[in-house]
This record gives sequence, structure tokens and C-alpha cells, in this order.
Amino acid sequence: MAADHSFYVTTPIYYVNAAPHLGHAYTTIAADVMARHHRQRGEDVFFLTGTDEHGEPVADAAKAQGLEPKELADRNAERFKALAPRLDATNDFFIRTSDPEHGRRVQEVLQRVYDNGYVHKGLYEGWYCPRCADFKVENEIEEGNRCPIHHIELERHSEENYFFALSAFQERLEELYATHPDFVAPKVRYNEALSFIKSGLQDISLSRAQLTWGVPVPWDPSHVFYVWFDALLNYYTALGFARDGDDLTAKFWPATYHVIGKDILRFHTVFWPAMLMAADLPVPEHVFVHGYLLLDGEKMSKSLGNVLDPFAIIDRFGTDALRYYVLRDVSFGEDGSVSTTAFEQRYETELANEYGNLASRTLAMVARYRDGKLPQAEVDPELAPDFEGLADRVAERIDKVELTQALDDIWQRVRRLNRYVEERAPWQLAKDSDRAEDLDRVLHTLAEGLRVVTVLLAPWIPEASAKLLAALDTPDTSLASARLGAQTIGAVGALEPLFPKHE
Ligand code: MSP
Repeated sequence: MAADHSFYVTTPIYYVNAAPHLGHAYTTIAADVMARHHRQRGEDVFFLTGTDEHGEPVADAAKAQGLEPKELADRNAERFKALAPRLDATNDFFIRTSDPEHGRRVQEVLQRVYDNGYVHKGLYEGWYCPRCADFKVENEIEEGNRCPIHHIELERHSEENYFFALSAFQERLEELYATHPDFVAPKVRYNEALSFIKSGLQDISLSRAQLTWGVPVPWDPSHVFYVWFDALLNYYTALGFARDGDDLTAKFWPATYHVIGKDILRFHTVFWPAMLMAADLPVPEHVFVHGYLLLDGEKMSKSLGNVLDPFAIIDRFGTDALRYYVLRDVSFGEDGSVSTTAFEQRYETELANEYGNLASRTLAMVARYRDGKLPQAEVDPELAPDFEGLADRVAERIDKVELTQALDDIWQRVRRLNRYVEERAPWQLAKDSDRAEDLDRVLHTLAEGLRVVTVLLAPWIPEASAKLLAALDTPDTSLASARLGAQTIGAVGALEPLFPKHE
């Protein structure tokens, strides 16, 4: 078991033969929110992302451009490496499957699978999609013999290669699912994986004979490992070489959460645990499967064009706005439509008005009525119950990767604070010197409430959160500080608009 208080979260490693897009950004942002939240709880967090570089698609693309596969991979991996900081992702390492240390460890693990008797030779024949680097089973094939994902014509492939005895794990996988009902979430994905297992597992191809761009099979170097097994093992191998001279495996393995998209469910929820069992390694605690962001039905927007381009949003509205929007508008775990119009609405109404304005107004009132010094007072008993237990509730949600619901729980309090300002009308209290104490209490309550929601929002909107906490001079972002009265705000500083309005 991984050490207590350790939390290990991963994203899929991205194929280097495409340019980074919103789908990649989505998974990375979600995993980052989890990583940041768990750090707030004082846990030891390891957050891994990276690139999947071997296999036929990269080899083919390189050939077409007159390059060596490694040259193409180097060039494209850079774009994904650069994506993480643009998203403000706090990954602790970036793995590339072309890293030699990764290859060595893949060989070690799969040699063990071989030594344990779970590998045999066989003839593989089937319909193959070169873009997926995967054979398709009959019932997935689209009309016209096409790939259901890429809609390109499939190729008939046949070769002698090594097989992994997946069928030997039928019972153990069923048992894993029976004893760990939260192994895969959401439930609909758990059911999907389990029914695939129950339909009867067949052995799967483990190597490729006609390819050289991959990790060589140690017992037969005329083969390379099938790219998916090389890729899945990244989650394990990275811990061994992410820190020079310090093997993190004992501390972080098994992973707490693999966060993936629904298209790669089978690999992560069936093949991967079986492979780990075959190598005598513990299986991950949870796999969380998110849905797709759908871009159709898009209306044209003046400022953003008609494609929700993550980079255009970041350039114009900042990274926080993108992070907030993708986890707010579509319930994480489900499919849902995103659009530039919906983005702009949420930005204006929620980030700029409900949150940004609340912050500017609160600080401006403390400056105007109390010379920038926050009066010490009791939190208004009218508001306190609405914040009771909030931090625990958010933590429970995040434990279940209910990232959208957790955000909504916090946002209800942002709205509560807005109502509180209107109800208490501090600008009226300020006109009446007999009500100075009331004004003190209202200002104190507002600033404290604002601080608490801001600490809780830090995983979603880290930049705005840091700016506001700096202006309140309470930089502590631990979850323990996300309670009314947990900190003392003294003098309040200046604050630029957190989410400026755009014409
Ligand atoms: N290389 C494999 C993963 C190997 S992990 C051991 C791969 N790479 S990928 O780059 O094609 O996709 C990575 C992730 O991005 C997938 O989980 C996929 O679901 C996600 N997304 C790609 N497009 C997406 C959307 N439009 N919406 C949400 N996420 C989608 O698969």
C-alpha cells in the first residue's frame, strides 16, 4: 500500500502526433484541481502527466515528414510540456515514454509477466486502425470497414506476436470489481467495464513484430511491446526515476486516481489491472472516467470566433477563467456541450460580477469606511451557519472526484455573500455613526467569508485566489484555514479587478 497521506494522481499520457487541444487541457486541469486540493489537506501529492511517443502513428507521421521518430517526438512533446504551465498545472513530473529509464522499467515489469507464465506466442489477425494503433473487434467496426473513432478505412493485419494471457484474469478481475465497487467511477463506467469483463476475456496481443519504434521485448528483441502496454506502464515507471536517487514507488504506488477520458476505458479498467496482477503489483485504487466536451451547436462569438480554443481563452481571459469554465459548465464525469457564448456568460455573471465584484466592493468598503483596517468583530450569526461544515463537504466531494458539485457548493456561498451585502447594505450603516459596531461586524463577516471561499476556490482559480489572499494578507491556503475565524485579517491592501470585464 502507498503510504498514508499520500495522494498520487495521473492524466493519460498524450499522443505526440496531435496538437494539444481542449480535450487534453480538460483532463490536465481536472487532475490539477485534485492535486491542489489534496495539497491543501497537507497530503504528500504526486501529480504525473506526460507524452505517449511510441507506436505506428508516430513512426508513420515521422516517415511522411522525412524525420526519425525520435526527432518528431522531441518536437511535439515540447508542445505538451509547454501546455501544463500555461494551464497552471502543478505536475510534479512530466514523463516521456521515449525516456530510456521508462523503457528499462517497462522491460523489467513485462519480463516478470513473462517469467510468471502469462505470455505465449500466437498468430494475430484482425482489422487494424493505424491511428488508434489498435486492432478493432468485429462489433466496433463502422460501416465501410472503418474505425469508429477516426472513420478511416481499417487495414487487415496478420502477424505472429506475443500474447498476454488476459483470459487468465477473468476471475480475479470480477473479484476486484465485486470487492471494490469504487474501483471505477462514475457508476455507469464501472458497469460498462464490468460487463465487458463478464462477456468473456480473450488474450490480447502484447508485441509487434514489424515495428521498431517502441520498447524492445527483452526475451525477443525482434519485437517491440505493443504501444498501449508501454504507455500504461508510465504510471508505474515514472515513480522510479522522477527524482534522481530517490525511488518514489514505495511512497506513492498504487496510484490513488487515474483520471481518463471515456474512450480509453477498457485499457485502464481491464487490461491495466490484469497486467499489474500478472506482474505481482498492486492495482490502482481508483480510475475516474470523464466524458467529452462537445463543441457542436456553436454560435459565433465576437471575441472568440466559433471554436472554444483553450489558448485563445487563456490569452484573452486568463487561465483561471478556462479552468473554472470547463469544470463548471459540464458536470465532470458526463458529456456536455461547451460554447463560447456560455463561456462569456459565465465569465461575466459569475467570475466578473459575483466573485470579482464582491472582492473589489468588500476591499473598497474596508478602505473607505475603516481606512483599510479590518475591524475585529464576531462573525454575523446570520451568515455563520451557511459556512458550517463547508470545507469538509468540499473534501468529501473531491474524494469522489465530484469536481463540478464541489465547485457549486462553494459558489452557493459566493452568492450567499452577495445577498448578504445587499441585505446589510453597509453603505447605509456607514451613514449612521450609532451603527459603527454593526458596520464593523458586517465588514468583518464579509472579508472573512470572502477569504474562506477564496481558499476553497484556490484549486480551480489559483491565480485570482493568490491575488486576493495576498491583498487580505492571509496567504494560508490550507484546508484548515477554510473556516470562518480561522485567520485574522488585519490591514487590507489594494486589489486590481480579478476578472476584468471585456467589451
Ligand atoms: N495516448 C493515449 C493514452 C495513453 S494513457 C496510458 C491517448 N492519448 S490522447 O492524446 O489521444 O488522449 C488523451 C485523453 O484526452 C483521453 O483521455 C481523451 O479522452 C481526452 N480527450 C480527447 N478529446 C476529448 C474531448 N473532446 N473531450 C474530453 N476529453 C477528450 O488516448
